[in-house]
Amino acid sequence: MTTLVIGGAGYIGSHVVRLLLEQGERVIVVDDLSTGLRSRAEGAELLELDVTRPEAREVLAESLRSSGADSVIHFAAHKQVGESVENPEMYWHDNIGGLANVLSACASAEVRDVVFSSSAAVYGVPDVDLVTEDLTPRPINPYGATKYVGEWMLADAERAHGMRTVALRYFNVAGAGWPELADTAVMNLVPIVLDALEQGRAPVVFGDDYDTPDGTGIRDYVHVLDLAHAHLAALDYLRGEERPHRVFNVGTGEGSSVLEVIDAIARARGIEITPEIGARRPGDPARLICSGDRIAQTLGWKSEHGLDDIVRSAVEARAAALAPDADAYPEG
Ligand code: UFG
Repeated sequence: MTTLVIGGAGYIGSHVVRLLLEQGERVIVVDDLSTGLRSRAEGAELLELDVTRPEAREVLAESLRSSGADSVIHFAAHKQVGESVENPEMYWHDNIGGLANVLSACASAEVRDVVFSSSAAVYGVPDVDLVTEDLTPRPINPYGATKYVGEWMLADAERAHGMRTVALRYFNVAGAGWPELADTAVMNLVPIVLDALEQGRAPVVFGDDYDTPDGTGIRDYVHVLDLAHAHLAALDYLRGEERPHRVFNVGTGEGSSVLEVIDAIARARGIEITPEIGARRPGDPARLICSGDRIAQTLGWKSEHGLDDIVRSAVEARAAALAPDADAYPEG
């Protein structure tokens, strides 16, 4: 089997690439290396390409044809909520335009199976304890909107071209399956707290007056390695016969508060952490916890790692990167 992994030099994509290589598949990583790292694509073939460019469609189609690829996993996208609010045009152009190129290349090369990175951001601020896929998405920012539009595009491509697609709606992804594949961006809670500690600053909790047991926001943290396995399960599903669903949540079904995450980091580091309590961040829901029933029942996927494993793996990856002779985080 040959799979084209677009955005395969990124944090999540590279974990999937590693698992595919481990199971003996041929992998072609397509990445413009704008945020991805060449070193993360080691072991795979690398096609350096910005899939949002008009000429990318034909280059992708040719690569699909010449490699005989049978599936595509599409990760490449911008993913910063705040940035998407300030610059929606970039999100429309790159997230939606990039996916349009990928899907039309697949159609032209007659590649049938596509897995797409969607996000719990499609749900907006749902007023429910557990978020199921049946809930009507109401994204509240351009990032979430582009992911939801992406899901419609998959459905259109299925109808028009007989493609088979799965969208995985990721909840809060963190941790590292291998230290050298860790998240190098400082954009989400776990890396933000680790970065603050390294700089000798107190981490800031965005609000402790939510209607939650300790007053801080609750999220469903999923280990990136578990998430990577969910992609393999999705590929198997597409390669099989039965296919009643196209959209799956990927989370653990367990919520952790900001203070619980900070406590887990303190335990993993063997230190005390006294966070600063700041104001709420606009647009943050109090809680966002995934119902994982559909993916468990349909794909047989369940997370294997809990919050402590997630945090420990992130702490160990940081320590490896900061070791004096470390080259774990080379410049991209
Ligand atoms: N938080 C803090 N302090 C910080 C950073 C975050 O208290 O310095 C809090 C947030 O308020 C929130 C929690 O930590 O309660 C998690 O925040 P993140 O910024 O790590 O993640 P979000 O839940 O805001 O969003 C993430 C991804 C989105 C995705 C969403 C899905 O960034 O792309 O998870 O659940 F859509």
